[in-house]
Amino acid sequence: MVKAIRIHELGGPEAMRWEEVEVGMPKEGEIRIKNTAIGVNFIDVYYRTGFYSAPLPFTPGMEAVGVVTAVGPGLTGRKVGDVVAYAGYPIGSYAEEQILPANVAVPVPPSIDHKTAAATLLKGMTVQVLLRRVFKVEAGHTVLVHAAAGGVGSLLCQWANALGTTVIGTVSNEEKASQATEDGCHHVIIYTKQDVVTRIKEITDGKGVNVVYDSVGKDTYKASLESLAPHGHLVSFGQSSGLLDPISMTDLVPKSLFLTRPNMLDYVGTRDELLQVAGEVFANVLSGVLRIRVNHTYPLSEAAHAHADLEARKTSGVLFFLLSSSSRPATPAPRPPQSLPGHAPPPPAPGYARSRPLRPPPLLPDNAAQAPRTAAGHTRTPPGHGPTRPRPRPPAPRFGPARSCPPAARPPRPAAARARQRLARQHPAAARAK
Ligand SMILES: NC(=O)c1ccc[n+]([C@@H]2O[C@H](COP(=O)([O-])OP(=O)(O)OC[C@H]3O[C@@H](n4cnc5c(N)ncnc54)[C@H](OP(=O)(O)O)[C@@H]3O)[C@@H](O)[C@H]2O)c1
Repeated sequence: MVKAIRIHELGGPEAMRWEEVEVGMPKEGEIRIKNTAIGVNFIDVYYRTGFYSAPLPFTPGMEAVGVVTAVGPGLTGRKVGDVVAYAGYPIGSYAEEQILPANVAVPVPPSIDHKTAAATLLKGMTVQVLLRRVFKVEAGHTVLVHAAAGGVGSLLCQWANALGTTVIGTVSNEEKASQATEDGCHHVIIYTKQDVVTRIKEITDGKGVNVVYDSVGKDTYKASLESLAPHGHLVSFGQSSGLLDPISMTDLVPKSLFLTRPNMLDYVGTRDELLQVAGEVFANVLSGVLRIRVNHTYPLSEAAHAHADLEARKTSGVLFFLLSSSSRPATPAPRPPQSLPGHAPPPPAPGYARSRPLRPPPLLPDNAAQAPRTAAGHTRTPPGHGPTRPRPRPPAPRFGPARSCPPAARPPRPAAARARQRLARQHPAAARAK
């Protein structure tokens, strides 16, 4: 028997009970994993409340990192002791141990610690899909990100910045505004004090933004549409504030707008897609494009506390549950925060230089032991602390003078600088185009 969070009746955070459950042994095609770190995501709230449905009783949770403790009969390519992560279905990660289909588990590169992997996979894959597949941003685009200091929002701003876009984020308070600025927002709108549409017009000289990534839903839909430039894309990928009211196609007519409602899991439906997207996320962690902001860690038994904080907008960055066995990282010494002098344009993320297609994933062969160990990818900030390292900034603002958060000089990072040099060697034209 192991302990798990169980939901017998839908409801508030108190609906989650800490109980003993039987896990059993893996069947054909399955593995059993002992979870070491478990990601908390807003979708867990949706399942707990019944907004999304799961048969009762159930164990919530859709993201975890763990160590394989048993493999099903005949399974090859996975062995006891492997460190794997998963994000998505099946629901049930809020447990000390769980059974998984082997094909949903991805190997965690040895140089990424369990915490970082658990904090990154679901949110990072969502960001990859949003920025690279749903609406493919390019250098020179202006993007608006709601909940910019949130779990997904924080990574979205960092990655969008690295791609050379002008990033505008909305947040509810000053503290989150500072975090969003550190995470690569060139402009931050505190929507409790400023009118979003008015500020967007000021910042963009009336042009509007190319794309809005909107995870807030009900409360932001109208402002999102009004903030778009002609032919702009509204990517509505969540509803933290509630389900959108029925949408009329005529809303899209005035500026010939595009509206899409993506689900990340539909973009990683095959094993190849999963490995490609997860590989790109881990590569960006290792190269320093993505820094994980771990501000909230809870024991699994206190899942109710985590959900209450998340729903009350008290959180920023990622939340996760840490189990005792995760205290030892996959590799010993994390890289300390770095401080480098000078200005630099935003470095391209490895594998997606602006004028060439994505490079195949470098990190996720089915045998994790083959993953490179050279670049350190540990979380650079301990739980409870904000990041200490500044983000790279683009060379100059492309739009009007109004700035709520002026950019600071941002130094290059060694791994990113190496990636730029590699790009310059392999694709001189692309490098010049930056
Ligand atoms: N479509 C997909 O495939 C996919 C995948 C992953 C996540 N998502 C969605 O992305 C969203 C973000 O997920 P996350 O886990 O990273 O959560 P999160 O953004 O860290 O947390 C939610 C944030 O939304 C903002 N918010 C605005 N109005 C809110 C309200 N009425 N109640 C609660 N929060 C409100 C708050 O930020 P402020 O205080 O700054 O307002 C809050 O901190 C969720 O809607 C989730 O469902 C979608």
